[in-house]
Amino acid sequence: MTRLLLLIVVFLQRSAATDMRSFVLTVMNGQQFSCANTTCIPFSSFAVLNSRRCQLACVNVNQCQAIGFRQSITRCDLFSNIVNQKKNFSLNHDVVTMIMNVNESLSTGWMLVTSMNTSRASHTASVLSNGNVLVVGGYGDISIKQPEIYNPAAGTWTTVASMNITRKLHAASILINGLVLISGGNNGVNFLTSAVLFNTSSQTWTNAGNMNTQRGAHTASVLSGGRVFVCGGDSGSGFLNKAELYDPLTNTWTPANSMSTIRVDHTASLLANDKVLVVGGYNGGYLNTAELYDPSSGNWAMTSKMKYARQHHRSSVLSDGKVLVSGGYSGTYLNTAELYDPLLGNWTITGNMSFARAQHTASVLPSGKVLVTGGFNGNYLNSAELYDPNTGNWTKIDDMNICRRFHTASVVSDGKVLVIGGEMNSSYLNSVELY
Ligand SMILES: *[C@@H]1O[C@H](CO)[C@@H](O)[C@H](O)[C@H]1NC(C)=O
Ligand SMILES: *[C@@H]1O[C@H](CO)[C@@H](O)[C@H](O)[C@H]1NC(C)=O
Ligand SMILES: *[C@@H]1O[C@H](CO)[C@@H](O)[C@H](O)[C@H]1NC(C)=O
Ligand SMILES: *[C@@H]1O[C@H](CO)[C@@H](O)[C@H](O)[C@H]1NC(C)=O
Ligand SMILES: *[C@@H]1O[C@H](CO)[C@@H](O)[C@H](O)[C@H]1NC(C)=O
Ligand SMILES: *[C@@H]1O[C@H](CO)[C@@H](O)[C@H](O)[C@H]1NC(C)=O
Ligand SMILES: *[C@@H]1O[C@H](CO)[C@@H](O)[C@H](O)[C@H]1NC(C)=O
Ligand SMILES: *[C@@H]1O[C@H](CO)[C@@H](O)[C@H](O)[C@H]1NC(C)=O
Ligand SMILES: *[C@@H]1O[C@H](CO)[C@@H](O)[C@H](O)[C@H]1NC(C)=O
Ligand SMILES: *[C@@H]1O[C@H](CO)[C@@H](O)[C@H](O)[C@H]1NC(C)=O
Repeated sequence: MTRLLLLIVVFLQRSAATDMRSFVLTVMNGQQFSCANTTCIPFSSFAVLNSRRCQLACVNVNQCQAIGFRQSITRCDLFSNIVNQKKNFSLNHDVVTMIMNVNESLSTGWMLVTSMNTSRASHTASVLSNGNVLVVGGYGDISIKQPEIYNPAAGTWTTVASMNITRKLHAASILINGLVLISGGNNGVNFLTSAVLFNTSSQTWTNAGNMNTQRGAHTASVLSGGRVFVCGGDSGSGFLNKAELYDPLTNTWTPANSMSTIRVDHTASLLANDKVLVVGGYNGGYLNTAELYDPSSGNWAMTSKMKYARQHHRSSVLSDGKVLVSGGYSGTYLNTAELYDPLLGNWTITGNMSFARAQHTASVLPSGKVLVTGGFNGNYLNSAELYDPNTGNWTKIDDMNICRRFHTASVVSDGKVLVIGGEMNSSYLNSVELY
């Protein structure tokens, strides 16, 4: 087969976004996609003046990955999925095919990568010491019991040994011995006391004892000494103020002092001084209170209140030790963000996000900026924005390909962010994208 391959780096302004996106175009004259099944059917076809116009149309649609331009009738075909087509071309002198490979090194945007085997939301995603990402549980079908591991270098998913039961609204913590502790959650019937450990090298599950309280939608923080501090959440028969500690050395759980109030859908952040800052949540009302757990004394102390009550917000520990609390819900969806200063023990308002959002993600990047993605504000969101701690301002970046909430975002070894699954319009998602 004779193939004319031409690689062109193109800088094109996407009309919908402020960022410049760059693509490496693979241009194939006289080749058309040829495939047995429906993934070869273009998602959109229309007449345009020339192949350049067709290419521009593709650049302006996130979904578009390739074009086929039929010269005799000036028809532009846009393709969303080229995985199968890529290796299967047939000769047709009338057709110019261009594949829009988003150039990773130049791109500022999002790229869809291999999907998970199982669609899931409210799962956990843990970045392992070898750089792989372990995804466990969540809402989904029966195969949700089966965890999956993403290898960012290879771009592949592998399913691993199933858990005995389904778990959603659980928590995942990476212990200092490398094991992953999965605590509590709901098995579809009850909230659980049980906890299990996953060993990545042997790919086996073992029991990690039972918590003293059934719980899901709790928080779990790995303390500097290696113990795991769990607090709040839902027991199925009420929300919780109870807290407890897991000790990896004895593989047992011990009750800790309770919080001042019941909290569910709160956040917990480990501060540089080893205290745990617990923020907001819901106890029948939306909470603006925050309290500090001191693992060395085992005591709680109230700290200043936030300006805005919030649940389903996110908390990010910045490189200067401050904690950025973003968005959430308190009867209305919030665009506000506040910064906690652990040294002063008070909150200051910082820049507003462009979008109100709850059930989003917030990831601290190696640059120190915080990347917020998706969530919900009455609409499902695919928007993403970056917080700059130096200016206190947010900058909108390219939209994700897919709107999602209750997804996860993991910072992988090269500083990219892997966004996984979630829920949109009551459907669980298996799609995965990389920023
Ligand atoms: C490639 O195209 C041919 C002809 O349309 C089709 O029979 C075959 O199934 C295709 N192969 C793949 C892998 O899609
Ligand atoms: C389309 O064909 C390819 C190659 O034969 C196959 O891997 C893929 O699963 C098929 N997709 C659908 C949606 O049938
Ligand atoms: C992306 O562009 C850079 C700079 O032009 C180039 O060196 C690199 O090979 C390109 N990457 C891909 C995957 O095409
Ligand atoms: C993917 O999930 C299905 C159930 O949806 C399961 O039957 C199948 O074994 C899984 N595939 C792999 C490779 O584990
Ligand atoms: C995990 O499994 C490997 C291989 O079986 C074993 O050598 C290692 O000790 C286990 N790790 C822990 C912390 O139990
Ligand atoms: C899984 O179930 C088996 C059989 O009931 C039981 O022996 C084992 O302890 C369970 N393992 C875990 C990690 O829950
Ligand atoms: C936080 O505390 C510092 C030092 O006491 C004070 O200057 C600042 O005004 C306080 N900020 C708020 C929002 O209370
Ligand atoms: C930020 O948003 C809040 C509430 O949505 C609004 O009251 C406030 O004026 C906004 N601040 C700025 C600087 O726009
Ligand atoms: C931050 O945002 C404010 C309000 O939009 C603006 O006045 C200010 O110039 C921005 N600062 C920087 C450093 O971008
Ligand atoms: C989600 O639902 C809304 C409202 O029913 C609808 O407008 C929208 O097209 C749906 N989105 C997708 C991707 O299905």
